[in-house]
Amino acid sequence: MCKNIGILTGGGDCPGLNAVIRGVVKSAIIRHGWQVIGIEDGFDGLLDLRKCIPLTLESVRGILPRGGTILGTTNRGNPFNYPVELDGKIVQKDISDRVVENIQTLGLDALIAVGGEGSLKIALELAKKGVQVVGVPKTIDNDLCETDFTFGYNTALETATDALDKLHTTAESHHRVMILEVMGRYAGWIALESGIAGGADVILIPEIPFDLARICSSIKERSARGSRFSIVVAAEGAFPAGGDRVVAKAADECQIIERLGGIGQYVAKQIEQCLDMDVRVTVLGHLQRGGSPTTFDRGLGSRFGTKAVQMIADGEFGRMACLKGRTITSVTIEEATRDLKLVDPEGEIVKTAEDLGIMMGR
Ligand code: F6P
Repeated sequence: MCKNIGILTGGGDCPGLNAVIRGVVKSAIIRHGWQVIGIEDGFDGLLDLRKCIPLTLESVRGILPRGGTILGTTNRGNPFNYPVELDGKIVQKDISDRVVENIQTLGLDALIAVGGEGSLKIALELAKKGVQVVGVPKTIDNDLCETDFTFGYNTALETATDALDKLHTTAESHHRVMILEVMGRYAGWIALESGIAGGADVILIPEIPFDLARICSSIKERSARGSRFSIVVAAEGAFPAGGDRVVAKAADECQIIERLGGIGQYVAKQIEQCLDMDVRVTVLGHLQRGGSPTTFDRGLGSRFGTKAVQMIADGEFGRMACLKGRTITSVTIEEATRDLKLVDPEGEIVKTAEDLGIMMGR
């Protein structure tokens, strides 16, 4: 039977989204002879039918190496909690019925939602309202449960490791402490794995609240041993033991989640106060989300995209494609979004870092 399926990309963009879109469109058309509708700007696109456009083989030609998403995205716009103006004030309203109606108007047999924790939770709520949803896990943060990796993470790691290589040469020349602030929200994966790959001396992650006095002593000891520079990687969600996270912008009625940022400067100030060393901060920011996906992310995105189509063919709804070991399989979206996947402070990767002499903030 010829099906009509929709695909949207939600939440922060990341490299590999276009590989997923291409994988979905190619396998839906070539293998199954189905039609695909691309929905622009995440779930917002389902509130405006003009944002729902047919995708053809032509539409996805040449997009595999391109970063971003040809469909556009937003990390706002939850239809179950949508900001609307009422009597001059912004209030939250559940307008999800409009989304369901529009899905019916479009005649969609199924919807593929490509997103991180936030977007997949919305997909799950739509599934509860009867929409036949399939999820694809996306985020540079790699913090989604039930999948070994999300696509986008590997590219972000490459960018962060490259930045660390570059910071090393200038840190060494000037005998400075160089702090690199990386993304990752409440998970320390990017900081931990790029820090190991980039030869960092100190890595600060949200899962291990840090002790500044100990960080300063370790930098001092390094200097005493003749290494007159140090490289610190700070995850944006890292925080001092007994203290708070550094927030660049608090959550409000439009910005549903707080925006983290500023931990690099915070740590720099403290180190400068206790050590007689020059300290500089680099905030890597959205460079981690941009650019062409790595080979790994192109492959993973393509595999997730074709798997999502196969899941629709098999009637596997309310589930998310995932990677377990080297195999693509699926889990319920409920399981995948129950908790965040965080670094285990006593796990093998942290132990590797500490065995290498990297100071983990404790
Ligand atoms: O979830 C991806 C991510 O890049 C996080 O690492 C970061 O905290 C956040 O999104 C930044 O969001 P924005 O694009 O709104 O600044």
